Amino acid sequence: MLTEEKVLDALRDVKDPEINKSLVELNMIRNIRIQGKKVSLDVILTIQGCPLKERIREDVVRSIESLGAKEVDVRFGSMTDEERAALSARLQAERKGASAGGGPAPGQPISPLLAEDSPTRFIAVASGKGGVGKSTVTVNLAVALAREGKKVGIIDADIYGFSVPDMMGIEQRPTVIDKTILPVERFGVKVMSMGFFVQDNSPVIWRGPMLGKMLRNFFTEVHWGELDYMLLDLPPGTGDVALDVHQLIPQSSEIIVTTPHATAAFVAARAGAMALHTKHEILGVVENMSWYQCSECGHRDYVFGKGGGEKLAQELRTELLVQIPLGAPDNDMDAPDFAPSVYRPETETGKLYRQLAQKVIRLTQVTTA
Ligand SMILES: Nc1ncnc2c1ncn2[C@@H]1O[C@H](COP(=O)(O)OP(=O)(O)OP(=O)(O)O)[C@@H](O)[C@H]1O
Ligand SMILES: [Mg+2]
Repeated sequence: MLTEEKVLDALRDVKDPEINKSLVELNMIRNIRIQGKKVSLDVILTIQGCPLKERIREDVVRSIESLGAKEVDVRFGSMTDEERAALSARLQAERKGASAGGGPAPGQPISPLLAEDSPTRFIAVASGKGGVGKSTVTVNLAVALAREGKKVGIIDADIYGFSVPDMMGIEQRPTVIDKTILPVERFGVKVMSMGFFVQDNSPVIWRGPMLGKMLRNFFTEVHWGELDYMLLDLPPGTGDVALDVHQLIPQSSEIIVTTPHATAAFVAARAGAMALHTKHEILGVVENMSWYQCSECGHRDYVFGKGGGEKLAQELRTELLVQIPLGAPDNDMDAPDFAPSVYRPETETGKLYRQLAQKVIRLTQVTTA
């Protein structure tokens, strides 16, 4: 027989996809009514018009049907301001560890992700020059790590030149519960970017100190949950942001992106030198735009030269992790999961990113052991 308790029990496994906690634990399930094989209930969402409503409905219906219900009627409501504030306070307290309220205690990390015993591996993606493909590599490595079953986040640390949301085809804005921001999830990757908070693509005109602050805010205000990997897409060059990243995340390692051209590799070496200077461990080099492969005959043309990645890896005493050819993902623009820059797993380049992800997993496991 169906009972309220059984229904609640079944719903304990259904999570709010953004907060990643059970709907029951979040007190989102209300007014369960049971008549024979028919169940009706209210699901109280954090905000009206939650974009993940349908997914939540499906999950709720499926789990109640698994108890033998023939009809499940889900009504949606939204939290009151007080309820939202209480939830936000709770999430904030969790982010700050035991020191609830009033910010982290002195000497405490600003986020559990940055705590000494945090299992999250930080990887900053850097380059000397702009336009070599840092953001493309960040996005595809993140998606490939998620495809390998890892919990992954991206911080688009290119505060002025943010591009991650567009590249991943994210049109949604993050949900904000009072003072807590929930990252937007796409292809299993949680994303935070300044681009979410800029209206109509207008230019961002903040200066130096604000940058560091934004980066901090991306930790203090955002509810990331548990992550295996956090990727940081850095702006080009060796400027303030790279230093800020070091200050905030001294344990971060780096991947350096270059093109095969000798000059590009030479400039990229500066980014590498900076990484070494700030004692960021270099995981390896990604050579992007390595060649153009003719789709008819398979011939490879090395349009930007050859050998830059290998040379840079030698110079930095690290390894060349992968070479990615020229090309763009041939994705269906009308598909609901369209993303301009994300390669599907079965494509040639998708497979190369998978190899890169597997290498990164191996390297980071070895270094943590
Ligand atoms: N392998 C590739 N083949 C062809 N085009 C590519 C490749 N990788 C990246 N691109 C394109 O090159 C441009 C620059 O790439 P991307 O934005 O990833 O570089 P970036 O290093 O992050 O740039 P920025 O320094 O401006 O942040 C984009 O238009 C991207 O789509
Ligand atoms: Mg970029």
